[in-house]
Amino acid sequence: MRLIHTLHTVFAAATLPLFPYFATAQYSPNCPLQGAVFPAPRNLIKESGAIGTGLSILQNELQNIINNPTVFDNGSTSFQLSLFSKDEQLLSFSYAATSLNNSSLPSGCLNENTIFRIGSVSKLLTVYTLLANVGMDHLKDPVTKWVPELAEFTNQGVNDAVSQVKWDEVTIEALASHGAGLDRDYSLSDYANLINGTIAKQAALPPLAPEDIPTCGTTDFLLPPCSRAEFLQEANALHPVTSTFHTPVYSNMAFQILAYALEGITGKSFADIFQSSIINRLRLSRTSLQPPNSTEEGIIPGDKISSWWSVDLGDSSPSMGGMFSTGADMMKLGQSILSYSILNPAITRQWLRPITHTADLHVAVGMPWEIHRLLQPVSSGSNHTRVVDLYTKNGDLGGYSTLFVLSPEHDFGFTLLIASPTTATESTAPAVALSIIGDAVTSAMVSAFEQAARDEAAYNFAGVYVSVNMSLTISVSDGHPGLKLSNWTMGDKDVLELYTGVPNAQADARLYPMDLESNGKISFRAVYERAREASQTSQPGVVFAQGCLPWGGVAALHYGKIAFDDFVFEVNDKGRATALAPRITRQTLGNQVVTITSLRRT
Ligand SMILES: *[C@@H]1O[C@H](CO)[C@@H](O)[C@H](O)[C@H]1NC(C)=O
Ligand SMILES: *[C@@H]1O[C@H](CO)[C@@H](O)[C@H](O)[C@H]1NC(C)=O
Ligand SMILES: *[C@@H]1O[C@H](CO)[C@@H](O)[C@H](O)[C@H]1NC(C)=O
Ligand SMILES: *[C@@H]1O[C@H](CO)[C@@H](O)[C@H](O)[C@H]1NC(C)=O
Ligand SMILES: *[C@@H]1O[C@H](CO)[C@@H](O)[C@H](O)[C@H]1NC(C)=O
Ligand SMILES: *[C@@H]1O[C@H](CO)[C@@H](O)[C@H](O)[C@H]1NC(C)=O
Ligand SMILES: *[C@@H]1O[C@H](CO)[C@@H](O)[C@H](O)[C@H]1NC(C)=O
Ligand SMILES: *[C@@H]1O[C@H](CO)[C@@H](O)[C@H](O)[C@H]1NC(C)=O
Repeated sequence: MRLIHTLHTVFAAATLPLFPYFATAQYSPNCPLQGAVFPAPRNLIKESGAIGTGLSILQNELQNIINNPTVFDNGSTSFQLSLFSKDEQLLSFSYAATSLNNSSLPSGCLNENTIFRIGSVSKLLTVYTLLANVGMDHLKDPVTKWVPELAEFTNQGVNDAVSQVKWDEVTIEALASHGAGLDRDYSLSDYANLINGTIAKQAALPPLAPEDIPTCGTTDFLLPPCSRAEFLQEANALHPVTSTFHTPVYSNMAFQILAYALEGITGKSFADIFQSSIINRLRLSRTSLQPPNSTEEGIIPGDKISSWWSVDLGDSSPSMGGMFSTGADMMKLGQSILSYSILNPAITRQWLRPITHTADLHVAVGMPWEIHRLLQPVSSGSNHTRVVDLYTKNGDLGGYSTLFVLSPEHDFGFTLLIASPTTATESTAPAVALSIIGDAVTSAMVSAFEQAARDEAAYNFAGVYVSVNMSLTISVSDGHPGLKLSNWTMGDKDVLELYTGVPNAQADARLYPMDLESNGKISFRAVYERAREASQTSQPGVVFAQGCLPWGGVAALHYGKIAFDDFVFEVNDKGRATALAPRITRQTLGNQVVTITSLRRT
């Protein structure tokens, strides 16, 4: 009695960390921990009805899009969609526009081996190359350490914050995450070479001095690519946009400088490093930094110039999107990230994180991930939602639009490559097609993977777990995240009520996977809450009286060096739970169902 009395007192004093049920800005009755609420599903095509259903819904939807002239011009827009888990291809769907001919699709067949330009998805591969070679080791280094020209500019000592970039404040991480405050481009978007004196006068623009007109870069395709010296000189002359780390501003230039820094760190050319650490390791047969020698395997919407197929971006290739690739190669890239085949799990977890917010609550920026935060129904048809983060990179170049998406919580991803002529009337076609098709994939497949994970968790973990003197029930319930822990008894004692001080019927205890697994054991942590209704109301100025802060209460209370929320399942080689240890009890409870089934079998 005394112990229990003490426990009650402790819990009462510690109510805030253990019970984050103080009022209500969340969209769900539960406050889960950030990240997956069930282990990622493993048995996809064969055993999960949800994935199969999602794929057929998606294929129907793709066909509807192709037949809907208000959102998709099927005469001119082509696409290739590859959907994958970390070890399987789940769907390869290609659509070849009806106007394609011998010169725009020389192979005569559009499939996952057709070469597209991938635009700014190149930036992601530049960062992947960096991490593959030097991991996270140099992220905090100032770029001046590795690009001596920039150190030289800094040493020249101009002190003019509104006109001069402070290169010694620009770190490798800032370059990789749009945090350096740099201008977007040198010369790419510069009208100086396109506008003559007459037009300038009409547009009320002043005449330009000769030295203000770019002489290298890619404007109007007539300029040669810049040499390294020219580019850095020009980059240094451009005005800074903002101070370092102040607000993210999308910069192409930053990635060219990042590639130079990587050359400085490794002492090798970017092309060689990219070839050896990415292309060769993943055996990417049709991915390159420069235009392929022949158009034979490519898609060229329009002609080679207007589509930008043949535009060689030189040293800007890593940044502005010079790279060429296919659905099959991009899938291998995505799978290599999810399965840790180049980067180890710890580096990968560090990479798949945000670096900064944006002004949109639902969008964050990583290196250089564009992170979209979805409010995903907790289960099919539920009004309750939870946050799912998609790690994406978008790219646009000439007639090409590209989307690369990973859902790390579910171990799946997709790549969408679009080609469409750049003629004026159709200039927005690829971007529109990209968002329509991208949304069709996420709305069908994120839900499908959520459902598959939920079904698999119910199959693997739900049950009654018993020992000589203790029993508890694990279940999965619609409208709620995670595994529900209920009916936890020892003899006639209600353990959950004793531990929490909340009557059993009002306690809502849920277990979430902790990404710790070894030797047939999987770790979960419990979040103990008081059952309640969800609310979406949020009062202006109310900050501390609302919120969803269960992470602040994890492992908050211990008994003999073990936390009250510490649970470990034992699983068999098929992933099915055979036992559960609420570690605080120093007991292991057998799964009644699995035990009975295996007894019957023998
Ligand atoms: C293109 O869309 C039209 C409807 O706008 C449809 O009739 C036609 O079958 C579609 N073409 C292809 C190749 O799917
Ligand atoms: C175009 O395709 C047709 C039909 O496949 C083929 O007979 C013809 O030789 C091709 N022409 C060129 C220029 O490749
Ligand atoms: C300037 O460009 C306009 C539009 O292309 C053209 O009509 C005009 O002749 C040009 N003027 C000169 C001086 O080159
Ligand atoms: C183009 O051909 C040259 C010479 O055969 C070769 O070295 C180069 O790798 C090829 N480029 C691409 C992108 O395939
Ligand atoms: C093929 O189609 C493109 C774009 O529609 C067009 O510019 C080109 O002239 C066509 N080529 C042939 C050989 O028909
Ligand atoms: C979701 O909310 C709507 C509108 O408030 C309500 O009509 C519906 O019954 C709710 N559905 C569920 C599953 O709770
Ligand atoms: C419950 O069972 C466990 C395991 O057999 C034992 O160690 C423990 O002493 C028992 N506790 C009570 C209160 O009976
Ligand atoms: C709770 O568990 C006890 C012991 O295993 C069992 O007798 C009882 O039926 C369970 N109650 C519920 C509501 O599941």
